[in-house]
Amino acid sequence: MEYSVSFPTGTVQYCFTGIKELLKRAPADSSVIITDSNVATLYQQVIAAYRTIIIPAGEEHKTQQTIQSVTEQLLEFKAHKKTTIIGLGGGMITDIAGYAASIYMRGVPFGFVPTTLLAMVDAAIGGKNGVNFGLHKNMLGTIRQPSFILYDTALLHTLPDMEWSNGFAEIIKYACIFDAPLFAELSTHIINYYKEDATALNELIQRCANWKNKTVSEDETENNVRKLLNFGHTAGHAIETLYNLPHGQAVSLGMLVACSISESECGLHPDVRRQLAMVLQQYKLPASLKLHTEQLMDILVMDKKRSNNTIDYIVLSSIGSALIKPLPFETIKQALDKFSDAGNY
Ligand SMILES: NC(=O)c1ccc[n+]([C@@H]2O[C@H](COP(=O)([O-])OP(=O)(O)OC[C@H]3O[C@@H](n4cnc5c(N)ncnc54)[C@H](O)[C@@H]3O)[C@@H](O)[C@H]2O)c1
Repeated sequence: MEYSVSFPTGTVQYCFTGIKELLKRAPADSSVIITDSNVATLYQQVIAAYRTIIIPAGEEHKTQQTIQSVTEQLLEFKAHKKTTIIGLGGGMITDIAGYAASIYMRGVPFGFVPTTLLAMVDAAIGGKNGVNFGLHKNMLGTIRQPSFILYDTALLHTLPDMEWSNGFAEIIKYACIFDAPLFAELSTHIINYYKEDATALNELIQRCANWKNKTVSEDETENNVRKLLNFGHTAGHAIETLYNLPHGQAVSLGMLVACSISESECGLHPDVRRQLAMVLQQYKLPASLKLHTEQLMDILVMDKKRSNNTIDYIVLSSIGSALIKPLPFETIKQALDKFSDAGNY
């Protein structure tokens, strides 16, 4: 199946056709693959035909220094304005590849082959790509759409269990903000159900991709509804940085903090937080952590959704219904304290 989605900065071809189509979509003589060391080892046959830049795996390499090294290698390959950069990997790689392609020679074409569940449902979609800077997540980056995203769920067969869980954190996020029936569906299953049923997995990925595409096409530059996709990410990014947790695990904890804030700020029933904690644990995601509020606040005050002394926080009024609420730092600090003290949920 193939379809295209148009955004102000470009049209993206979504190809659910499998990795075999990559050579047709991006011929080897005019493309360069960027991938990480794990994916390069696992998928040697895929990269064999291409000039390939291999980055060490791990979030700690999502930096400006890596962009520097990628640029040097692109120059060595004599990559030019018509060279297509292919990001083959998880969200770390799609961020690096999308950002490098957006600034190299002021922009060259690029496409993604996401290889983690998280990248398939979230990171590869929407055109936001960037790197971390010190303690600050995704502080430097661009908004520019890939020309294609090529899906092959067979690539997930090699994905470690923890990475499946991390992907489900973003899937549960979509359910919380937009899709109560999906939340109900997820409550009745576990990861293995989707691992063992290719149709259910493909439908789930497409449903999440559709939510993200719909939101981004309405507000590509994140002035309004796109902010909703940050549910769980404000505290989540600070938690990810401070405790060096994988993105999905940090977002899980961030969603519970956001529910706690939603209870005081828009009357969310406390049962929702308990239900969410149960679903997260069902998908082997964390629901508790002792938080160091002061240190988290030091990171949080530089959040990209900050204006003066407030942050646009994403809160829930119920499952499937999210809204943007500017909150003073003090309210966020109190919520973090409460979450930490309450044994978390
Ligand atoms: N740009 C966006 O809109 C957006 C959205 C969400 C997340 N992100 C970013 O995405 C990143 C997290 O993405 P992620 O969870 O995919 O992390 P990741 O890219 O670091 O991948 C996680 C691990 O899985 C390994 N891996 C990847 N594919 C594999 C496969 N098929 N088989 C076996 N191992 C495989 C990787 O080598 C890595 O060790 C974070 O940097 C986050 O900020 C970006």
